Amino acid sequence: VTTDPEALRAALLTEVRARGGALTEPVADALRTVPRHVFVPEVPVEEAYVDDAIVTKQDPAGLPISSSSQPTIMAIMLDQLAAQPGHRVLEIGAGTGYNAALLAHLVGAHGEVVSVDIDQDVVDRARTALATAGYPDVTVVCADGADGYPARAPYDRIIATVGVWELAPSWLDQLAPAGRIVVPLDLRGAQCSVAFERDGGCWVSRSVEPCGFMRMRGTLAGPEQVYVLDEGTRLVLQVPDDRDLDPHAVAALLAGPAVEVTTGVVASAARIFDGLPLWLGVREPRVCQLSESTSAEPARLPAAVLQVQTMRITAAIVADRGVAVLTRAPGGDLVAAGHGPAGPRLAGELADHIRAWGAAGRPDATGLRIVAHPDRGAPAAAAADATVIQKRHTRLVVTWPSAPPGEPPPG
Ligand SMILES: C[S@@+](CC[C@H](N)C(=O)[O-])C[C@H]1O[C@@H](n2cnc3c(N)ncnc32)[C@H](O)[C@@H]1O
Repeated sequence: VTTDPEALRAALLTEVRARGGALTEPVADALRTVPRHVFVPEVPVEEAYVDDAIVTKQDPAGLPISSSSQPTIMAIMLDQLAAQPGHRVLEIGAGTGYNAALLAHLVGAHGEVVSVDIDQDVVDRARTALATAGYPDVTVVCADGADGYPARAPYDRIIATVGVWELAPSWLDQLAPAGRIVVPLDLRGAQCSVAFERDGGCWVSRSVEPCGFMRMRGTLAGPEQVYVLDEGTRLVLQVPDDRDLDPHAVAALLAGPAVEVTTGVVASAARIFDGLPLWLGVREPRVCQLSESTSAEPARLPAAVLQVQTMRITAAIVADRGVAVLTRAPGGDLVAAGHGPAGPRLAGELADHIRAWGAAGRPDATGLRIVAHPDRGAPAAAAADATVIQKRHTRLVVTWPSAPPGEPPPG
């Protein structure tokens, strides 16, 4: 086992590319060059080059509030951003400073990188690491990223490395006319990294990739609610909006027996992760997310739901008198498990959504088209098959093109 950072970086790059990141040569070169271990001194060198997120700060409840993100998703987003030599780039969420260093490598000596973080201690560590790693010219600012950073605007590129509930008007104002902005955007609890460009008075998606970032704090924080339902197993319920919901009642319903409805739809965990939570987010207003650590004993979530790194994650329809949880039978058949008096009905409704996703060819984020309309004037007319998601400052019109006829659903 080598501890040579250069060899570890080369191995990491191979892994990232196999997972669909760093497909453009400049981004691959940045991953090959920038020493991630300098930005995460709390872990041994070998661990710094594993394709995992590394949590660097938690809130008093133990929920992560700062990290170095998983290298693959960082690389996918940098591919989406396509920062060029000489560009001026704004990053929201400096964290460890590693992504800012990758950006500095991409824009080169004639470019400029400004990175904003809301926490002073995070800013301090990012500044130190950037100087140590040889990127002292990156400007790290302690501020609420909701305001962007007007002092250095306009920017050719803006990237958020923290989950955003919506596009901040300040970012759109601070982006150069031909600029591009890449953000992990909330779609009713599901999250996609979306690259937007201007098109007339709107913002149109150029590429969409599934992702999962911790959420933005400060004035642009979304209305989502997070409840720890079980301290022991750290079972967490995430409600994507401000609906009135009693977490104790949900925990009690989940602890009771379930009625299972099988769907006949079979999918791998990766395929589900890439598509189904998003499908439910777009189509089912009562959707919520459930997660727990894979080390939880005894597990409260069925073991066969999605495993993402060290988490079991799934989606559920949560209503007054019941909860229906997305799960899988050992053979991979997707199942809706309904708890509580309304459980059988809700499980039937969840099963219908799952079957509709299967019939549509199990679409994932990459097929999605999102148009963000600044929320001024009359609502734009949306096509019959579009979903409109209203945010505070923007209205998102989300469309999934129909599956190509006759094409077998991919694995
Ligand atoms: C996933 S980390 C960013 C990772 C970072 N780009 C890196 O390479 O290490 C998300 C960061 O966003 C920051 N953050 C959260 N809310 C913010 C806000 N309103 N403005 C600026 N930064 C914010 C957090 O403090 C955290 O450090």
